[in-house]
Amino acid sequence: MSFSIAISGKGGTGKTTLSAVIVRYLVRLGKGPALAVDADADGNLAESLGLNGVKTVGAVLEEMEKKVSQFPPGFSKDDWLEAKLTEVMIEEKGFDFLSMGRGEGPGCYCYVNSILRRIMDVLEQNYPYLVMDNAAGMEHLSRRTTREADILFLVSDHSIKGVQSGARIAELARELELDVRKMGFVINRVPGEVNPVIRQKVEETGLGIIGSIPEDGLIKRFDLEERSLLELPEDNKVVKAVKEMVEKSL
Ligand SMILES: Nc1ncnc2c1ncn2[C@@H]1O[C@H](COP(=O)(O)OP(=O)(O)OP(=O)(O)O)[C@@H](O)[C@H]1O
Ligand SMILES: [Mg+2]
Repeated sequence: MSFSIAISGKGGTGKTTLSAVIVRYLVRLGKGPALAVDADADGNLAESLGLNGVKTVGAVLEEMEKKVSQFPPGFSKDDWLEAKLTEVMIEEKGFDFLSMGRGEGPGCYCYVNSILRRIMDVLEQNYPYLVMDNAAGMEHLSRRTTREADILFLVSDHSIKGVQSGARIAELARELELDVRKMGFVINRVPGEVNPVIRQKVEETGLGIIGSIPEDGLIKRFDLEERSLLELPEDNKVVKAVKEMVEKSL
């Protein structure tokens, strides 16, 4: 069984950025390959990790639907998917990567989600660490692509609204009785110290702040230059803050 890290939170608060920096940390930890999963249908974790032209599970499923009538007798969709999985799994130095992508039809990801859940059940046995970047909001909980996690990071920007979104996600995780062993806030883009008003708001949720990540110009520059966050230097302040946060959580 792997140690699974799920990343959730309000839109645009830094989930993907932090997921990539967590992967960076795990790669350097060198305790075996981590599995990085982009569970956001409109995700960009691949790019943040320097990967381009990635084939998604959704794309493979679409291809399958077109070809299913030509399958030889006795050859099931599952057989086909299993064979195709090697095509979507990207193997990099220190980590493997899988992207969910978008499934058939506009707006319906149900099939992709159910496939993703099954794939994850099998795959997570093989990796010591699993990092899952999720779409903004709560759908990954209600659709149960996140069913269990050793730790669920609720990423918020340095705002009350961000904390309120995180609180709602935590509430739903509890309501659904998901097997989440630990949950906590990660306040991202903090200008200096976390504002006491925000600290108070977090306290009211009954959860703690596991990580406080500074606003950092280099992250913005990497974004503009479309550079892989794996290349961030060791002395970068976001890298350091993420390291501290993950070490506390493992
Ligand atoms: N600590 C930081 N300092 C400076 N910029 C940051 C920091 N964290 C994230 N950003 C920037 O904020 C923007 C949004 O980040 P990101 O894409 O990681 O958010 P997200 O939560 O994954 O968004 P979405 O909800 O769309 O998936 C990006 O341009 C990123 O470079
Ligand atoms: Mg994202």
